[in-house]
Amino acid sequence: MSDIIYLFGPNLDRLGTRDPAVYGSATLADLGVGCIDAARGHGLSAEVLQSNREADLVEAVHAAVKRNRAIVINPGALTHYSYSLADALAIFSGPKIEVHLSNVFAREPWRHVSVVAPVVDGTIVGLGALGLTLATEAVAALLEGN
Ligand code: DQA
Repeated sequence: MSDIIYLFGPNLDRLGTRDPAVYGSATLADLGVGCIDAARGHGLSAEVLQSNREADLVEAVHAAVKRNRAIVINPGALTHYSYSLADALAIFSGPKIEVHLSNVFAREPWRHVSVVAPVVDGTIVGLGALGLTLATEAVAALLEGN
């Protein structure tokens, strides 16, 4: 149980070595610490989950209905085609923010489509780790009803 769950999708466990020119040099562990610190700064508890498996993320969203008050999610490439993840997110009624480290709109055309965007409260792209901090601020405000 925690206020916010930060979910990371496929290949984000490779951050640090994966295409640093696009994703930066921070590892997933670094980002996770930043998420937990950012949440704590708003008086919120947090947990972080990364999986390369779509089903794990769908099930984490299902579990979040009872376990968490808000979701911050970087679904990785699942963003662009996972209707099952979009359907799961639609079930979760609390604040939900989608975050992408890179500016997906400046990249290949297939990255310009997000099937989860319609079922989240907002999307932050292209700001690297700062996007997670801003998403945390957004979630904190939404939880307060702002
Ligand atoms: C990403 C963008 C996706 O297109 C890509 O598949 C990722 C990372 C990002 O954070 O910029 O894995 O979600």
